[in-house]
Parts: sequence; structure tokens; C-alpha cells
Amino acid sequence: MALTITNHPLIQHKLSILRDKRTGSKEFRSLISEIANLLCYEATRDLPLMEVEVETPIAKCKTKVIAGKKLCFVPILRAGTGMLDGVLQMVPSAKVGHIGMYRDPETALPVPYYCKLPDDIAHREVFVLDPMLATGGSAIDAINQIKKDNPMSVKFMCIIAAPEGLEALQKAHPDVDIYCAALDDHLNEHKYIVPGLGDAGDRIFGTK
Ligand code: PRP
Ligand code: URA
Repeated sequence: MALTITNHPLIQHKLSILRDKRTGSKEFRSLISEIANLLCYEATRDLPLMEVEVETPIAKCKTKVIAGKKLCFVPILRAGTGMLDGVLQMVPSAKVGHIGMYRDPETALPVPYYCKLPDDIAHREVFVLDPMLATGGSAIDAINQIKKDNPMSVKFMCIIAAPEGLEALQKAHPDVDIYCAALDDHLNEHKYIVPGLGDAGDRIFGTK
């Protein structure tokens, strides 16, 4: 299991604006999508290639394409859907599954309410999307559900992770590679990430 923290200057710059409480929903949504796009570049770095022959207007040449790997993105509703456009821009042919889950405000435990995954997920590499990894409960449960369908592999992409969630996810799913833009300090008494960015779903959809 590998952890990749992609602290590229473009990502750090965008993340600073995302964290700012004065940033409104319109800009927040764009930034989530743009960061997901950049994270996707890193998360797909190890896709295998195969050689093909192409004829340019000048000459024939040997060149490379992705070797038949089929991808599937699975955003965790709601906030994970904010990352979907950004990753689909990079891999437009990927299929998309959805897992619905919210944290009980009293216990902070995940409450699942929806799951729809592609029929052929067993032949696909799955990338789970959620901007926030706080306690890790939502990511762990979502990956439990996905693994029941035996995908070829599972990776988890988030924007901000807390050390508590990272540890829990690594323990529950040691085979899952994790890609994030920042590892923050800790969780507060309400299980929100500090400093974090607040409630990602509410900020994306303007619900509070
Ligand atoms: C947020 C976030 C994650 C979860 C992370 O969703 O998008 O899914 O919390 O917390 P955890 O690691 O402690 O499980 P939320 O429950 O607020 O639902 P929403 O996306 O519908 O707003
Ligand atoms: N969910 C969020 O949206 N933000 C947090 O800080 C923790 C969980």
C-alpha cells in the first residue's frame, strides 16, 4: 500500500483558495474539479503501456498507448461527485459507479443509502473519489462494498486527509493506494478535519 501526497505548486495554490472560508460555491466547485484533474494525473501514473505503430504525415513510427486497462471512477455522494468532471476530463472512457453515504451527525459513523456499480467492475481498476478522509469510516465502508464485486484493484483519491482517517483506511484496506493533496493536522471534537476546509458537500452545493 502506498500513500502519495501530491504537493505540486499548482495544487497547493488551488488548495489555499479552497480552504479560504470566503471562497463561494461556484469557485469552490471549479477548484475541486481542477485539483481532482491534477491528482488523477498522479493516480494513473503506473498504468501500463503497449507499443503500437502509427503513421504520421511524415513517417511510420512506434509509439505507446495505454494497454487495455479499463478504469472505473466511484464518487462517494455527495461531495465525491465534485471530483468527477476533473477525472473524466483525463479518462473520458472510464465508467462511473456511485455510492451514497452520509455521516450520522451524532456518531460520525457512515450511513449507506445508495450503491450502483458497473456490471463489469470485476474487469476494471477502480478509483474511489471523496474530497475528505476524516475518520475514514466512509471510505472504508465504500471500499468494502466495492470489493464485494471483486474489482481488479482499488485506489482512493481525496483532497484532504486527516492522520486518523489515513491510519484507519490503511489498516482496513492495506492493498489500497491512497492519493491526496494534503495531510492535515487532526480531527476536532466533531470529527472535522483541522484546518481542513469545512463541510465539503455543503460548500460544493451551497447547502449551508
Ligand atoms: C463527508 C465527506 C466524506 C465523509 C468523510 O461526507 O465527503 O464522505 O464526510 O468523513 P469520514 O472519513 O469521517 O467518514 P458527508 O457525510 O458530510 O456527506 P455529504 O458528502 O453528503 O455532505
Ligand atoms: N467531512 C467534511 O466534509 N469535512 C470534514 O472536515 C470532515 C468530514
